[in-house]
Formats: sequence, structure tokens, C-alpha cells
Amino acid sequence: MIADDIRQAVLKAVKTAFPEINLKPEDIELEHPTAQEHRDYSTNIALKLKTGHPREVAQKIVVQLQETTSLEASVAGPGFINFTLSPAALMEAAQKIEIAPIGKGKTVVIDYAAPNIARRFGVGHLRSTIIGQALYNIYQSLGYKVIGDNHLGDWGTQFGKLLYMINEKAKGDFTIDDLEKWYVEFHRQSTPQMEAAARFWFKRLEDGDKKARNLWKKCVDVSMEEFNRIFDLLGVKIDFAYGESFYEDKMPAVIMDAQKISKLSDGARVVEIPGIKIPLMLVKSDGATTYATRDLATLKFRKEQWNPDIMIYEVGVDQELHFRQVFAVARQLGYVKQGAILCHTRHGMYRWPSGRFRTREGNTPKLEGILQEAIARAAKLGSQEAAQAVGIGAIKYFDLKHGVQSDIVFDWEKMFELQGDSGPYLQYTFARAQSVLRKSKGKNQKAKITGELTNEELALLRYLYRFPEVVEAAARQYAPNLVCSYLFELAKRYNNFYNNCPILGNDLRLKLTATTADVLKNGLNLLGIEALERM
Ligand code: ARG
Repeated sequence: MIADDIRQAVLKAVKTAFPEINLKPEDIELEHPTAQEHRDYSTNIALKLKTGHPREVAQKIVVQLQETTSLEASVAGPGFINFTLSPAALMEAAQKIEIAPIGKGKTVVIDYAAPNIARRFGVGHLRSTIIGQALYNIYQSLGYKVIGDNHLGDWGTQFGKLLYMINEKAKGDFTIDDLEKWYVEFHRQSTPQMEAAARFWFKRLEDGDKKARNLWKKCVDVSMEEFNRIFDLLGVKIDFAYGESFYEDKMPAVIMDAQKISKLSDGARVVEIPGIKIPLMLVKSDGATTYATRDLATLKFRKEQWNPDIMIYEVGVDQELHFRQVFAVARQLGYVKQGAILCHTRHGMYRWPSGRFRTREGNTPKLEGILQEAIARAAKLGSQEAAQAVGIGAIKYFDLKHGVQSDIVFDWEKMFELQGDSGPYLQYTFARAQSVLRKSKGKNQKAKITGELTNEELALLRYLYRFPEVVEAAARQYAPNLVCSYLFELAKRYNNFYNNCPILGNDLRLKLTATTADVLKNGLNLLGIEALERM
């Protein structure tokens, strides 16, 4: 990558000009200055060194650079050093756009989707699925070994209530809608007797009672049928789905491990955590284990199974406290490899322009209905064959272009804006480039710069080589939206080039077109969006 070369050159120049200063390559921050179109990189190293007047320091470094390299460097403002890449250097960089395998030998576990059995697949789980899959692809592209785990909500005391209701209400088969309705009903009518009966049902389930197990299994099956339809529509396949029930027999060991750091409080077993007011509850006063206990067992299992260096929980911001507690206790118990990163992404919520998306009161739109509507809207834009890829791509892109932690106001118009920051716009731009390349009969273009470049050509060249940097930043910051904004800007530059520079018959322009198409395709694929040859 060019950035690495510049960093090394600056390092050498500083060493020569200021032998007393000891620098590491990471100390040299490089940015793409936004304001000045003719500068490609900029560093604040002269301001950071604090070894004299920053402008003079910068000047000394620049002199060194000029003596030993062919880099075009100059001093700017209070002491920044700007770098301008020559067209030849830009062209060379554009010919080898490669994502560096910085993750080689490292393992990442991504915990995502995780819908709850007996409840509909919600929009929160949609966000988790879309963002989780994008992070999965991004990390994989960087050479990490990536493991996806769908931590299904298929265990817990709520199943006691459900089984009680099923036993009361069901005449034969039931649907996920019935289950949702009955669950709400239980809470509306609940009496101490019903609560006791529900607890008894959960106990039967935990004890392996046949009838309880069968009913539970039926709940799982009807739910999974719907979930799988949605995963199919989204084109997402998650490596594992251990789910909470998998940890049922692994919780006693966790409670044992935590013996020394936990205590009884009003009959419940809890762990107090320095710096967090609310203790983590391991066992409730009625003896039932909790969601948190299962997450601890999950961390222990994942360490034994995969020993990950990074674990990403793609879960909403409403579970912030839960994960702070679980992470802290897991580290105390030695369930996390030394130095490993635990990240809770804390995604924001979806809202309608008129208010919140509801979850229980009935005005939640059904997710499958939303996905089908997106496909129907896409069908109106272009070919039937493309409709699914365009419709689902629109949904995914709209989600991903928002910062993970921001809330999203659902907006069909923006999602399908053909001239705006949307999935269809990017797919359209890719298809347009492909169509040019088809017309050129795929001649292997030997790109050579002869004479002056046009502004549009330069604008593309100054942007293409940055793709690998953006992918790295997206991984480091758990921020697929960085890939979105990069692709949108690239598409704008390409379309501007397309509209102003006749491409056919010009080898350099064909090469730029082919390179742009490659980057668009790779970028869209990272986001889980199909790049279509034709639209
Ligand atoms: N099923 C949970 C929910 O919908 C999300 C699970 C997230 N993952 C985890 N390891 N806790 O709220």
C-alpha cells in the first residue's frame, strides 16, 4: 500500500534530520486531506514531534524526503506535510489494489442475528443480521479466520409461560403468531397460580420431561421455519446456531467457577462488579439460570473451541449493561484469552417517520412483508430477474450506510433513490461499467498514461487506490458504513467521468472502468450485496 511506503519514507527522513528522536511507523498518522483536491496524503508528524517550530521541522523533513525519494512533499499551514502522488504513481497503485492480510493467524467470532424462538424475527434482528454479515465479510477479506454464531434465544423461563399457554390453548398445531399472542395474553391475565404453573412447566422442561420437550421442540421448529425463510431472502447463512439451549448442561460448571466471586443476595446468586452498580445475576431466587449465565457459558465454550482474538456481539444498544456485566465477569473467570478484544457494537434502532417501531402491540410491520415489498418495488425499477438482488440490496445498503450506533428512520424513497446514496445506484453504476466493458469486447487494456489527464480521470485515480485502507478502517472501527460512503463517492466520480470522457477506444479509460468495476463489485460483496452484470 502507498501509505506504508510513505510512512517508511517519513520515518527515515525524521531519523536523518533528527537522529535523537525515536519513532515507530505507527506514530506517523496519514490522512487524506479533504479540502485540497490536489493533495493525496497529509501528516501532522512535525506538529507532534514538539522539537522546534513545527513549520521548520516540517521543512527539514521535506528537504530530506526530496533528497532521498521521488515523493512530492510540501509544507502547509501550521506545519503539516502534504504529499501529492504523480499520475504514474497513482496508476501503478490502481493496478494492484489488494487488501492486506492483516488478520492472518487471528480468529474472530461474530455473534449475530440471534432471533428469539416463539417471537417474530424483528427489525432489531434484521439490523444484527445485516451488519453482522457485513463485518463477517470484511474481516474475512482481511485474512482473519471468521466464525459466525447465531445465538438463538431458545431457552429461558419464558418457555415455562409458553408451554403453560400452549397446554391451555392449542388444539393441535400452532403458529408463531399464536405463540406471540399467547405470550402477551399470559402477561395480561397472569395470576400467582399461573406464574407457579409456568415455573413448573419450565422445571419439567429442564428435567427433560417428554411432553415439555416435545412442545418446546415444536416452538423451535415453527420459529425456525420462518427464520430460515428470512435468512434465505437475505442470502445469509450463518456458520453455527448453537443457541442458548445448547448451554443448558454447561451452566453448572459456570456457577461452580464463579463460586468464589459470587454471593447470595435475597436468595439469588449474584456477582458484584467494580464500577457497575447493578450486579450480574447468575441464578434467580427460584433457582432458574439467566440469559447472562448462558452468555458466560458461551464465552467459556468459545474459548475452548476457537480461542478467538476478537469477539464481536452485533446486538442492540438496549443490551449495553448486560454485555458490560458479562464481559467483566468473563474476564475475571478467565473465559477470555489474554489481550483478546470483546466488542458490543450497540446498534441503534429503527423508527418510522411517525415514531417507534413497535414490538408487541401489534403495529410492528412483519419483516417478511417489508422484504417482499422491497422486492416488489425493485421489480418496478427494472428486470424481474434482478428484483430480489436489487430489493434486498436496497434494504441492506440503507441499513449499512447509517453509522452502526445511529438510529434509522425507515424511508422507502431514500432506499430506492436512483441518483442518490442507495444500493440501486451503486448496482446501476456497476452494471453501467460492465456494459461499457462488454462493448469494448473485453480487450485486455494496456493502460499507459500519455499526456495530461483530465480532471475526471484524475479524480478517479486519486480515489481508487484507497479501497484497501477503507476496508481496514471499517474492520478496526466495526463500521461497514465507511465502505458505503467510499463506494458512493467512487460511484459519483465514475459517473462524472463516464458523462464527460468518451471511454470506448481509449485504453486508459477502459482500464479505469475495469478497475472501478472491480472495486465496486468487491465492495458491494463485502456489504452482502450482489453486483449485477445487467439491471
Ligand atoms: N436473542 C437475544 C435478543 O434478541 C440476542 C442475543 C445476542 N447474543 C448474545 N450472545 N447474547 O435479545
